[in-house]
Amino acid sequence: MQIAIVGAGNVGAMTASRVVDDNLADVVLVDIVPGLAKGKALDISDARPVFDSKAQIIGTGDYKDIKGSDIIVITAGLARKPGMSRDDLLQKNSKILTDISNQVKEYCPNSIVIVVTNPLDAMTYLVMKKTGFDPRRVIGMAGVLDSARFLNIISEKAKSVDKDKIFMMGSHGDTMVAINRSENLSKELFNQSLDRARQRGAEIVSHLKTGSAYFSPSASVFHMLKAIIKNENKTTLCASVYLQGEYGEKDLYIGVPVKLDSTGIKEVIEIDFTDEEKTAFKKSAQSIRSAISKLK
Ligand code: LAC
Repeated sequence: MQIAIVGAGNVGAMTASRVVDDNLADVVLVDIVPGLAKGKALDISDARPVFDSKAQIIGTGDYKDIKGSDIIVITAGLARKPGMSRDDLLQKNSKILTDISNQVKEYCPNSIVIVVTNPLDAMTYLVMKKTGFDPRRVIGMAGVLDSARFLNIISEKAKSVDKDKIFMMGSHGDTMVAINRSENLSKELFNQSLDRARQRGAEIVSHLKTGSAYFSPSASVFHMLKAIIKNENKTTLCASVYLQGEYGEKDLYIGVPVKLDSTGIKEVIEIDFTDEEKTAFKKSAQSIRSAISKLK
């Protein structure tokens, strides 16, 4: 099993490190910045004896080296600066991801692709269109991260948090949709935590100033990779996927609960919405459509 990680910035390198430390798969880390991927790959490989890992990792600036990879993780592109929204990155990152899609199509035509670059839902849509891959093999990472942030913030004030009953759907943006099927969570704590979770990415950017979050984003990618590679079809998680009629939406990437296996999206799970959730999901879908319409 080989994973190509495109972009050796913080999210890409940290994902590579998690995969190699855990001995999950071999990694090809790619970056167009000379030496960046090579240097980080050497550094990550030096930790293998510490973790007893046999996973191989190489760093490269040449896309030819991704040939034969089973899964591609795309983290390349610009990250937000303080005061920017994820949508502000659309034009620049769509150029970068169009180039990468062409390389992926050429060298790894049968791979599964996980997209992490923002604005997430629109960029995942773009990669699916540009590669022409079956949409079940092109997946956006956001729901695992947004759900984790929400759960973590709730856990600061709640005695126990029902992990399987509280999660985030919708866009990876200001209109993300929180779902609560737990009876232990008060409406007040739900609302407070939701506002904070929606702003968490921006809160981290405002402290870091020169970059965005990467520990929890890389952990979230790692969780998805494990679900795909282990092929157990047990884990339900939220991811941005292409809807073809589910939830009344078509030709759109948006966060919903899914099951992943070695083929990619095994199943889209349709939950019953309350009226409030339904309205929020529609609004979120609308905001993604508007970002997608600016892709041309
Ligand atoms: C964030 C980036 C990964 O939410 O979008 O921090």
